[in-house]
Amino acid sequence: MKNILVIGSTGQIGSELTRELRKRYGGSHVVAGYIVGAEPKGDLLEGGPAAIADVTDAQHIADVVEEFKIDTIYNLAALLSVVAESRPRLAWKIGIDGLWKVLEVARTHNCSVFTPSSIGSFGKDTPHDNTPQDTIQRPRTIYGISKVTTELLSDYYQLKYGVDTRSVRFPGVISYVTLPGGGTTDYAVDIYYSAVRGEKFVCPIGKGTFMDMIYMPDALKAAIDIMEADPARLVHHNGFNVASMSFDPEIIYQAIKKYKPEFEMEYQVDPLRQSIADSWPNKMDDSCARNEWDWKPDYDLDAMTVDMLKNLEIRLK
Ligand code: SER
Repeated sequence: MKNILVIGSTGQIGSELTRELRKRYGGSHVVAGYIVGAEPKGDLLEGGPAAIADVTDAQHIADVVEEFKIDTIYNLAALLSVVAESRPRLAWKIGIDGLWKVLEVARTHNCSVFTPSSIGSFGKDTPHDNTPQDTIQRPRTIYGISKVTTELLSDYYQLKYGVDTRSVRFPGVISYVTLPGGGTTDYAVDIYYSAVRGEKFVCPIGKGTFMDMIYMPDALKAAIDIMEADPARLVHHNGFNVASMSFDPEIIYQAIKKYKPEFEMEYQVDPLRQSIADSWPNKMDDSCARNEWDWKPDYDLDAMTVDMLKNLEIRLK
């Protein structure tokens, strides 16, 4: 039986991952790690143990790992791409100094570690179509730089110290539960909120800008399945491309319009978001994940749209 610590359990991915892990492994086996000011509430607090786990404080993480006999750490502390550009030092402090601390605790306490990478780990020199697993990664954003470093440092701990580190490169993650904050792909979440509220959507990303996206249930499945994968089959360990769907604003708009014919959208392109989006892949090739640990998403754009609209109608009532 695993004992899991989720660092960042109240964030966009962490909040849903904590609930999903508790369903799979039992509430008492999954500790919701949080920082002061972002405390878990409701079922997240009641569904199992919770503890302060700040990536900037290694001793504290070590104490939590010892207290709850943790053997697996999901490290989801991060700033998203747009907000990281305005706070680059903090992005580094959380993403890299924090990761180093988590990896050191994992090394000394024999834990496995999942720290997500992202489509943001690629740059403008990367092949944009069917982006290979192993290719050029020269991002120019601090988010991307920290994600490439995450992959490399995680590999380093794997090779040098035998720490079991594994991860995927998440596409933009779409969900109706916890809002993302300050990401380039956030528009693909916000557009559903506007549609359900009956408001016109002002899109900050230009027509024809394709990016990989994934629905939250598939993102959670990827995070859990890679940690459950048979190590004997793994050629790669960190930064698996996981693709699911790829679209531009026009395509998601039309997908929503099919169910909300009165929905309207206009463009007001944000130069920072657009320049970041332009440097990311149009669509990744995820054949390594498919071959090495049987990755396969369940949702396409239409299935996600039906589910998003249905659940947001309930939530926003
Ligand atoms: N969703 C992230 C962002 O837009 C990308 O992984 O910053």
